[in-house]
Amino acid sequence: MKSQLENIYKAATADLESASNLNDIEEIRTKYLSRKGEFNSIKKGLKDLSDEEKRVVGALANEISANLEKAIKEKYDIFYRKEMDEKLKKDRIDITLDGAYVPSGKIHPITSTINEIVEIFQNLGFSVLPNVLSPEVETEYYNFDMLNFPPDHPAKDMQDTYYTKLAPNTILRSQTSCAQIRAMEDSKPPIRVVVPGRVYRNETVNARKNNFFHQIEGLYVDKGITFGDLKGVLNEFIRIYFGAARPTRFRSSFFPFTEPSAEVDVQCIMCQGKGCRTCSGTGWLEILGAGMVDTNVLKNVGVDPEVYSGFAFGMGVERLAMLKYAIDDIRLFFNNDRRFLAQF
Ligand code: PHE
Repeated sequence: MKSQLENIYKAATADLESASNLNDIEEIRTKYLSRKGEFNSIKKGLKDLSDEEKRVVGALANEISANLEKAIKEKYDIFYRKEMDEKLKKDRIDITLDGAYVPSGKIHPITSTINEIVEIFQNLGFSVLPNVLSPEVETEYYNFDMLNFPPDHPAKDMQDTYYTKLAPNTILRSQTSCAQIRAMEDSKPPIRVVVPGRVYRNETVNARKNNFFHQIEGLYVDKGITFGDLKGVLNEFIRIYFGAARPTRFRSSFFPFTEPSAEVDVQCIMCQGKGCRTCSGTGWLEILGAGMVDTNVLKNVGVDPEVYSGFAFGMGVERLAMLKYAIDDIRLFFNNDRRFLAQF
């Protein structure tokens, strides 16, 4: 038994000698020292020996297995350190290197201006008309006829409005006012909605005008709505949107679908009213058209003008953004120069 123990020890030492990594060491440990390992099977044989032999052989077996355990631990530590070193070397990163540039997108200033305006009106009790009631490809019927435009109105001319070939009398809407009709066809008063959207006009492009731009339409129809309500809501909007007081003026105007009609100008921020290229020398920029919904329009959608009245407005989003951020050319919004867009 003694020589058996010594043989096992020799074999184990030889195995250890030829081990080349942590895995090998683990295998050797299992082979010799685990519960089912070689030493344990020897130790099981001890019970057949005399007491004296048990003492001697038992002590020897303990000594040898302790030695082996020590040898295994030493080898293990060496390999462990070696493998750790290699792994650390391999995984090493240079924290002084520049990071990879990940450009982050931004919300377009027109989108954020729309969001801001819509939120102001939501806080004033308006809700947003669903998109299905506000298509960009519209019919003349909604864009003009139902809005009380006479059949020979110059806005209906191809010079001013983009006609499409999709179907007869289909156009790219020239104003979001079509949504007034759709809103009133969709539900009965009281109606208090805003409608943001893109509109198209066949115009010569310059610093103030683009051939497409964005509007936010507003419509409030109920019993007893007055022009005073319209002025109150618009003044409140201007106060909230511009924050500090800005010189503004209410001018009387004309639209086929409102009576009386008005326009609101805000003093040009680029020249403080002195007159410049952006305001074409007038010192003012028009931001919206508005008025009391014409009785003919109410009749067109079956709302009784003897019972109900309402106001409507349509504001130019680009103009409002230009006046807030001192942007002197509307075209900057649309040519997607990242140096411009990154400022918002
Ligand atoms: N739709 C008009 C425009 O585009 C603005 C407007 C809207 C005027 C609502 C009155 C009422 O110029």
